[in-house]
Amino acid sequence: MIDLRPAREEDHPEIVAAIQRWWSDSRSPEAARELSLLVPRLFLQHFAGTSLVAEQDGRMAGFLIGFGSADRAADAYIHFVGVDPELRRSGFARRLYGEFFAAAARAGRTRVHCVTSPANTGSIAFHRSMGFELTGGDAEIGGIPVHRDYDGAGHDRVCFVREIEPAEFR
Ligand SMILES: CC(C)(COP(=O)(O)OP(=O)(O)OC[C@H]1O[C@@H](n2cnc3c(N)ncnc32)[C@H](O)[C@@H]1OP(=O)(O)O)[C@@H](O)C(=O)NCCC(=O)NCCS
Repeated sequence: MIDLRPAREEDHPEIVAAIQRWWSDSRSPEAARELSLLVPRLFLQHFAGTSLVAEQDGRMAGFLIGFGSADRAADAYIHFVGVDPELRRSGFARRLYGEFFAAAARAGRTRVHCVTSPANTGSIAFHRSMGFELTGGDAEIGGIPVHRDYDGAGHDRVCFVREIEPAEFR
């Protein structure tokens, strides 16, 4: 049984531990620890109400860190999403995104943005499946538009945007 609920600050240690555990097969322990720094506690202090946790049988199965843009009234942003590797391809992330889209649309947002690394082909395929378009870019790698040095020298990113129609979620 999958349950979705808003995140809360107390989830922070479990999210950090989950990132370090869930990514340990594809990264060194040090690299997995570094990745977990992408979700500092502030996200669970200031954006918990727009972030989500998915649980299966009371255990964290996935999470989504997202928020409404403070500067762009029409925009929402998904910063980080992760699903337990044992539970991937079962629709958890689709549920998390669907719930986030619906809440963002209710809050008057009409667009959702997010970014990923060009090497993260699974994330690119997932975002395409979720109806995102790949935007702009100043280079192309394997047919994918890439923004070079987007997050600093050597940190290229693929940028996504998806329109959300309030009627979709009524
Ligand atoms: C990307 C991720 C969140 C997807 O989670 P998931 O729960 O496995 O995704 P879902 O089962 O909800 O899949 C939704 C759709 O995306 C597609 N999809 C998901 N992962 C995919 C992959 N690796 N390759 C191709 N398609 C994929 C599914 O086929 C499905 O499409 P469909 O409904 O049209 O058949 C998960 O693989 C993950 O946690 N990856 C590591 C973290 C990450 O890369 N996060 C994104 C950048 S922050």
